[in-house]
Amino acid sequence: MNAMNKIPDNSRYARCIESSKRVRWDIDDDVIRGRRFDTAHKFLPDGLSLTDGFTTLSPGERRFVSQIQGRTYANIFGLVERFINAKVLELSCDHALGDQVVVEGLVRFSEEELKHQTLFRRIDAMVGEVLPAGYRFDFDPDTVARAVLGKSTWAVLALTLDIELFTQAHYRQSIDPDTELSELFKDVFLYHWKEECQHALLDELEFVRHDSALTAEERDRAVDDFIGLVAAVDGILQAQAVADMRYFAANCGRTVEAGEVQAIEAAFLAAYRWQYIHSGAQHPYFGKVLTGVISETHGQRIQAALATLH
Ligand SMILES: [Fe+2]
Ligand SMILES: [Fe+2]
Repeated sequence: MNAMNKIPDNSRYARCIESSKRVRWDIDDDVIRGRRFDTAHKFLPDGLSLTDGFTTLSPGERRFVSQIQGRTYANIFGLVERFINAKVLELSCDHALGDQVVVEGLVRFSEEELKHQTLFRRIDAMVGEVLPAGYRFDFDPDTVARAVLGKSTWAVLALTLDIELFTQAHYRQSIDPDTELSELFKDVFLYHWKEECQHALLDELEFVRHDSALTAEERDRAVDDFIGLVAAVDGILQAQAVADMRYFAANCGRTVEAGEVQAIEAAFLAAYRWQYIHSGAQHPYFGKVLTGVISETHGQRIQAALATLH
Protein backbone atom coordinates (compact mmCIF):
# COMPACT_ATOMS: atom_id res chain seq x y z
CA MET A 1 0.00 0.00 0.00
CA ASN A 2 1.20 3.50 -0.73
CA ALA A 3 2.34 5.10 2.52
CA MET A 4 0.39 8.26 1.64
CA ASN A 5 -2.90 6.38 2.01
CA LYS A 6 -2.20 5.96 5.70
CA ILE A 7 -2.43 9.68 6.43
CA PRO A 8 -6.04 10.44 7.44
CA ASP A 9 -5.72 14.17 6.76
CA ASN A 10 -3.03 16.76 6.30
CA SER A 11 -4.42 19.38 8.68
CA ARG A 12 -1.69 18.89 11.29
CA TYR A 13 1.00 19.35 8.63
CA ALA A 14 -0.88 22.48 7.46
CA ARG A 15 -0.90 23.87 11.01
CA CYS A 16 2.88 23.32 11.24
CA ILE A 17 3.35 25.26 7.99
CA GLU A 18 1.25 28.16 9.33
CA SER A 19 3.25 28.25 12.58
CA SER A 20 6.53 27.96 10.69
CA LYS A 21 5.60 31.01 8.57
CA ARG A 22 4.48 32.98 11.63
CA VAL A 23 7.66 32.47 13.72
CA ARG A 24 10.20 32.60 10.87
CA TRP A 25 13.39 34.49 11.83
CA ASP A 26 16.70 35.61 10.42
CA ILE A 27 20.09 34.82 12.00
CA ASP A 28 21.50 38.37 11.84
CA ASP A 29 18.38 40.55 11.92
CA ASP A 30 16.58 38.73 14.74
CA VAL A 31 19.06 36.61 16.70
CA ILE A 32 22.56 38.12 16.69
CA ARG A 33 21.71 41.80 15.98
CA GLY A 34 25.38 42.81 15.91
CA ARG A 35 26.04 41.57 19.45
CA ARG A 36 29.05 39.70 20.86
CA PHE A 37 29.26 37.26 23.74
CA ASP A 38 30.24 38.62 27.15
CA THR A 39 32.14 36.27 29.48
CA ALA A 40 30.73 38.10 32.51
CA HIS A 41 27.59 36.00 31.98
CA LYS A 42 26.77 32.31 32.08
CA PHE A 43 25.89 30.69 28.75
CA LEU A 44 24.09 27.56 29.93
CA PRO A 45 21.77 27.64 32.96
CA ASP A 46 22.56 25.67 36.13
CA GLY A 47 19.58 23.40 35.42
CA LEU A 48 21.42 22.08 32.35
CA SER A 49 25.10 22.50 33.22
CA LEU A 50 24.49 20.95 36.68
CA THR A 51 27.16 23.22 38.17
CA ASP A 52 26.30 22.03 41.70
CA GLY A 53 28.07 18.81 40.69
CA PHE A 54 31.35 20.70 40.17
CA THR A 55 31.88 20.77 43.93
CA THR A 56 35.57 21.81 43.91
CA LEU A 57 35.11 24.87 41.68
CA SER A 58 34.73 28.55 42.61
CA PRO A 59 31.74 30.58 41.32
CA GLY A 60 33.92 32.09 38.57
CA GLU A 61 35.16 28.64 37.52
CA ARG A 62 31.59 27.38 37.42
CA ARG A 63 30.69 30.27 35.12
CA PHE A 64 33.57 29.21 32.86
CA VAL A 65 32.18 25.66 32.91
CA SER A 66 28.77 27.00 31.81
CA GLN A 67 30.47 28.80 28.91
CA ILE A 68 32.38 25.68 27.82
CA GLN A 69 29.19 23.64 28.04
CA GLY A 70 27.31 26.34 26.11
CA ARG A 71 29.78 26.07 23.26
CA THR A 72 29.48 22.29 23.33
CA TYR A 73 25.67 22.66 23.38
CA ALA A 74 25.78 24.61 20.12
CA ASN A 75 28.19 22.06 18.61
CA ILE A 76 26.09 19.05 19.64
CA PHE A 77 23.03 20.64 18.01
CA GLY A 78 25.02 21.37 14.88
CA LEU A 79 26.05 17.71 14.87
CA VAL A 80 22.64 16.09 15.35
CA GLU A 81 20.88 18.45 12.96
CA ARG A 82 22.99 17.09 10.11
CA PHE A 83 21.46 13.61 10.37
CA ILE A 84 18.03 14.99 11.28
CA ASN A 85 17.98 17.05 8.10
CA ALA A 86 19.23 14.15 5.97
CA LYS A 87 16.41 11.96 7.31
CA VAL A 88 13.82 14.70 6.73
CA LEU A 89 14.99 15.07 3.12
CA GLU A 90 14.66 11.30 2.67
CA LEU A 91 11.12 11.34 4.13
CA SER A 92 10.10 14.25 1.93
CA CYS A 93 11.05 12.12 -1.09
CA ASP A 94 8.61 9.41 0.14
CA HIS A 95 5.86 12.04 -0.11
CA ALA A 96 7.11 13.92 -3.18
CA LEU A 97 4.42 12.62 -5.55
CA GLY A 98 1.69 12.64 -2.91
CA ASP A 99 0.19 15.25 -0.66
CA GLN A 100 1.98 18.51 -1.38
CA VAL A 101 1.01 19.99 2.01
CA VAL A 102 3.03 17.22 3.66
CA VAL A 103 5.93 17.87 1.28
CA GLU A 104 5.86 21.59 2.10
CA GLY A 105 5.82 20.89 5.85
CA LEU A 106 8.90 18.68 5.56
CA VAL A 107 10.75 21.00 3.16
CA ARG A 108 10.27 23.90 5.58
CA PHE A 109 11.52 21.64 8.39
CA SER A 110 14.63 20.86 6.32
CA GLU A 111 15.28 24.51 5.44
CA GLU A 112 15.01 25.48 9.11
CA GLU A 113 17.52 22.81 10.16
CA LEU A 114 19.96 24.09 7.52
CA LYS A 115 19.59 27.58 8.99
CA HIS A 116 20.03 26.25 12.53
CA GLN A 117 23.27 24.50 11.55
CA THR A 118 24.54 27.80 10.11
CA LEU A 119 23.53 29.56 13.32
CA PHE A 120 25.34 27.02 15.51
CA ARG A 121 28.54 27.31 13.43
CA ARG A 122 28.35 31.09 13.92
CA ILE A 123 27.83 30.68 17.66
CA ASP A 124 30.81 28.31 17.93
CA ALA A 125 33.01 30.86 16.14
CA MET A 126 31.66 33.78 18.19
CA VAL A 127 32.26 31.96 21.49
CA GLY A 128 35.75 31.16 20.17
CA GLU A 129 36.39 34.92 19.92
CA VAL A 130 35.86 35.50 23.66
CA LEU A 131 37.12 32.27 25.29
CA PRO A 132 40.74 31.01 25.36
CA ALA A 133 42.07 29.07 22.37
CA GLY A 134 42.32 25.28 22.49
CA TYR A 135 38.67 24.19 22.66
CA ARG A 136 38.10 20.90 20.80
CA PHE A 137 34.98 19.35 19.31
CA ASP A 138 36.35 16.58 17.12
CA PHE A 139 33.23 14.96 15.67
CA ASP A 140 32.54 15.30 11.97
CA PRO A 141 28.78 15.78 11.38
CA ASP A 142 28.80 13.82 8.10
CA THR A 143 30.65 10.84 9.60
CA VAL A 144 28.25 10.73 12.55
CA ALA A 145 25.25 11.15 10.22
CA ARG A 146 26.40 8.26 8.01
CA ALA A 147 26.58 5.96 11.06
CA VAL A 148 23.19 7.11 12.39
CA LEU A 149 21.44 6.83 9.01
CA GLY A 150 22.70 3.25 8.74
CA LYS A 151 20.17 2.39 11.46
CA SER A 152 16.45 1.86 10.86
CA THR A 153 14.27 4.89 10.11
CA TRP A 154 12.13 4.03 13.16
CA ALA A 155 15.16 4.35 15.44
CA VAL A 156 16.37 7.57 13.80
CA LEU A 157 12.90 9.15 14.08
CA ALA A 158 12.57 8.06 17.72
CA LEU A 159 15.94 9.67 18.52
CA THR A 160 14.96 12.78 16.54
CA LEU A 161 11.64 13.16 18.38
CA ASP A 162 13.52 12.72 21.66
CA ILE A 163 16.02 15.47 20.73
CA GLU A 164 13.42 17.91 19.44
CA LEU A 165 11.29 17.48 22.56
CA PHE A 166 14.18 17.95 24.97
CA THR A 167 15.25 21.08 23.06
CA GLN A 168 11.90 22.61 24.00
CA ALA A 169 12.01 21.36 27.59
CA HIS A 170 15.52 22.83 28.03
CA TYR A 171 14.37 26.23 26.84
CA ARG A 172 11.12 26.39 28.82
CA GLN A 173 12.33 24.81 32.07
CA SER A 174 15.94 26.01 32.31
CA ILE A 175 17.07 28.61 29.79
CA ASP A 176 14.10 31.01 29.82
CA PRO A 177 13.73 31.26 33.65
CA ASP A 178 17.46 31.90 34.32
CA THR A 179 17.98 35.65 34.80
CA GLU A 180 21.81 35.43 34.93
CA LEU A 181 22.32 34.10 31.41
CA SER A 182 23.94 35.88 28.49
CA GLU A 183 21.08 37.65 26.66
CA LEU A 184 22.57 36.64 23.33
CA PHE A 185 22.88 32.99 24.31
CA LYS A 186 19.30 33.09 25.59
CA ASP A 187 18.05 34.57 22.32
CA VAL A 188 19.80 31.87 20.27
CA PHE A 189 17.78 29.23 22.09
CA LEU A 190 14.58 31.30 22.19
CA TYR A 191 14.57 31.52 18.39
CA HIS A 192 15.68 27.91 17.99
CA TRP A 193 12.86 26.77 20.28
CA LYS A 194 10.27 28.68 18.22
CA GLU A 195 10.99 26.55 15.16
CA GLU A 196 11.65 23.29 17.02
CA CYS A 197 8.04 23.24 18.27
CA GLN A 198 6.87 22.46 14.72
CA HIS A 199 9.64 19.90 14.19
CA ALA A 200 8.58 17.77 17.14
CA LEU A 201 5.00 17.67 15.82
CA LEU A 202 6.20 16.59 12.38
CA ASP A 203 8.54 13.99 13.93
CA GLU A 204 5.63 12.41 15.72
CA LEU A 205 3.45 12.32 12.58
CA GLU A 206 6.23 10.74 10.53
CA PHE A 207 7.25 8.35 13.33
CA VAL A 208 3.71 7.02 13.79
CA ARG A 209 3.19 6.78 10.02
CA HIS A 210 6.44 4.85 9.61
CA ASP A 211 5.72 2.61 12.61
CA SER A 212 2.32 1.59 11.24
CA ALA A 213 4.03 0.00 8.22
CA LEU A 214 6.41 -2.19 10.29
CA THR A 215 6.04 -5.87 11.15
CA ALA A 216 6.50 -6.94 14.77
CA GLU A 217 9.96 -8.33 13.92
CA GLU A 218 11.03 -5.10 12.22
CA ARG A 219 9.87 -3.07 15.22
CA ASP A 220 11.70 -5.42 17.57
CA ARG A 221 14.96 -4.87 15.65
CA ALA A 222 14.28 -1.13 15.49
CA VAL A 223 14.09 -0.98 19.30
CA ASP A 224 17.58 -2.52 19.41
CA ASP A 225 18.73 0.06 16.86
CA PHE A 226 17.36 2.83 19.05
CA ILE A 227 19.20 1.46 22.09
CA GLY A 228 22.35 1.31 19.92
CA LEU A 229 21.92 4.94 18.88
CA VAL A 230 21.54 6.08 22.49
CA ALA A 231 24.74 4.18 23.34
CA ALA A 232 26.49 5.88 20.40
CA VAL A 233 25.33 9.29 21.67
CA ASP A 234 26.77 8.35 25.05
CA GLY A 235 30.11 7.50 23.43
CA ILE A 236 30.24 11.02 21.96
CA LEU A 237 29.34 12.52 25.35
CA GLN A 238 32.06 10.55 27.14
CA ALA A 239 34.69 11.76 24.69
CA GLN A 240 33.49 15.37 24.87
CA ALA A 241 33.45 15.29 28.69
CA VAL A 242 37.17 14.41 28.56
CA ALA A 243 37.90 17.12 25.95
CA ASP A 244 36.02 19.79 27.93
CA MET A 245 37.64 18.77 31.23
CA ARG A 246 41.09 19.10 29.60
CA TYR A 247 40.20 22.50 28.14
CA PHE A 248 38.93 23.65 31.53
CA ALA A 249 42.04 22.39 33.35
CA ALA A 250 44.37 24.04 30.82
CA ASN A 251 42.62 27.42 31.03
CA CYS A 252 41.25 27.83 34.57
CA GLY A 253 44.41 29.60 35.76
CA ARG A 254 45.48 27.16 38.45
CA THR A 255 46.82 23.62 38.79
CA VAL A 256 44.16 20.90 38.80
CA GLU A 257 45.38 17.76 40.60
CA ALA A 258 44.64 14.23 39.35
CA GLY A 259 41.83 13.54 41.81
CA GLU A 260 40.06 16.75 40.92
CA VAL A 261 40.51 16.03 37.22
CA GLN A 262 38.45 12.87 37.64
CA ALA A 263 35.74 14.70 39.58
CA ILE A 264 35.49 17.45 36.94
CA GLU A 265 35.32 14.94 34.08
CA ALA A 266 32.57 13.01 35.92
CA ALA A 267 30.63 16.25 36.48
CA PHE A 268 30.87 17.16 32.77
CA LEU A 269 29.66 13.68 31.80
CA ALA A 270 26.75 13.78 34.28
CA ALA A 271 25.67 17.15 32.83
CA TYR A 272 25.93 15.89 29.23
CA ARG A 273 24.03 12.71 29.98
CA TRP A 274 21.30 14.82 31.60
CA GLN A 275 21.19 17.25 28.67
CA TYR A 276 21.25 14.79 25.78
CA ILE A 277 19.92 11.50 27.14
CA HIS A 278 17.93 11.56 30.37
CA SER A 279 16.05 14.88 29.98
CA GLY A 280 14.64 13.55 26.69
CA ALA A 281 14.05 9.97 27.85
CA GLN A 282 12.09 11.33 30.83
CA HIS A 283 10.07 13.78 28.73
CA PRO A 284 6.41 12.81 29.33
CA TYR A 285 5.37 13.32 25.72
CA PHE A 286 8.25 11.21 24.41
CA GLY A 287 7.17 8.42 26.76
CA LYS A 288 3.57 8.77 25.59
CA VAL A 289 4.42 8.54 21.87
CA LEU A 290 6.87 5.67 22.40
CA THR A 291 4.62 3.56 24.65
CA GLY A 292 1.85 4.06 22.08
CA VAL A 293 3.78 1.87 19.62
CA ILE A 294 6.08 -0.43 21.64
CA SER A 295 5.38 -3.43 23.89
CA GLU A 296 6.02 -3.58 27.62
CA THR A 297 9.07 -5.79 26.97
CA HIS A 298 10.48 -3.19 24.57
CA GLY A 299 9.97 -0.51 27.22
CA GLN A 300 11.82 -2.60 29.78
CA ARG A 301 14.72 -3.16 27.35
CA ILE A 302 15.01 0.58 26.74
CA GLN A 303 14.80 1.41 30.46
CA ALA A 304 17.46 -1.20 31.31
CA ALA A 305 19.81 0.30 28.71
CA LEU A 306 19.22 3.85 30.00
CA ALA A 307 19.85 2.72 33.57
CA THR A 308 23.44 1.82 32.67
CA LEU A 309 24.15 5.45 31.68
CA HIS A 310 24.60 7.00 35.12
FE1 LIG B 1 17.10 22.92 14.98
FE1 LIG C 1 14.66 20.60 14.67
